Amino acid sequence: MKIEPLPGVGAEITGVDLRRLSGGEFAAIRQVYADHGVIFFRDQNLSEEDHIAFAERWAPININRFFAAHPDHPEIALVAKDKEQKDNIGGGWHTDHSYDLEPAMGSILVARELPESGGDTMFASMYRAYNALDDATKAEIDGLSAVHSAHHIFGSGKSTYYSTTDAGGNRIGNASAADVLTDVTHPVVITHPLSGKKALYVNPAFTVKIVGKTEEQSKDLLARLYAHAMKKDFAYRFQWRPGSVAFWDNRSTWHWALNDYQGQRRIMHRITVEGCALH
Ligand code: OGA
Ligand code: MN
Repeated sequence: MKIEPLPGVGAEITGVDLRRLSGGEFAAIRQVYADHGVIFFRDQNLSEEDHIAFAERWAPININRFFAAHPDHPEIALVAKDKEQKDNIGGGWHTDHSYDLEPAMGSILVARELPESGGDTMFASMYRAYNALDDATKAEIDGLSAVHSAHHIFGSGKSTYYSTTDAGGNRIGNASAADVLTDVTHPVVITHPLSGKKALYVNPAFTVKIVGKTEEQSKDLLARLYAHAMKKDFAYRFQWRPGSVAFWDNRSTWHWALNDYQGQRRIMHRITVEGCALH
């Protein structure tokens, strides 16, 4: 097994077959995941059953409430875009599940059908983003919490992502379940449950405000943090190939699915595994 840290964020792991990992290999991979926030594998040959078995080694599987499921395997969410569809899923910087009290640990994404070109995914390190903040900003956000919500994304309101994109057709559903979710709060800076390192934990998709401030009053600080976290220094652009697998950590990274392959199909299988409360 070889580990190659990538510029910006993440590490590529070669020389392993995810269908048959020894206990020692699994432990080593777990450490790379905790340290780097996203890990990539190439040339894997995972069936749906293999994908599920690999996920189950990490944590219980979270069955997605909003994404369309694989017809034979409810554990697998479909992250799909068809030829005639215009909008994609995840097409802006975000981290998944921050709107949950115990945000999912991460997702294992397997490429099933790729466009001829395009459809890369960007990842960004929230460890690096936090570390690179100036001391004044670190002091400013120390002890703050933020409110996270899924209402404006997956809910049924007029201007939600669900309502305003063609993803609301057959790809994203169950808006009424999003409508009744209670907004949650998490620290703006978390101590990562696996690595013990500090990470910036706000994101442009689901964070709505700072606790104790109005949305309007929160805008400046959030915009500053986002502009900083989006810097190229903390990011890596992953180019998918058949057989590629990515496993990202929702607590220490952001990701963004590029939507630059209009007229072509892209089908990914995603399994998400459970996480824990964040402090
Ligand atoms: C996701 C997502 C990224 C991609 O599945 O949560 O944002 O590249 N997808 O499809
Ligand atoms: Mn996502």
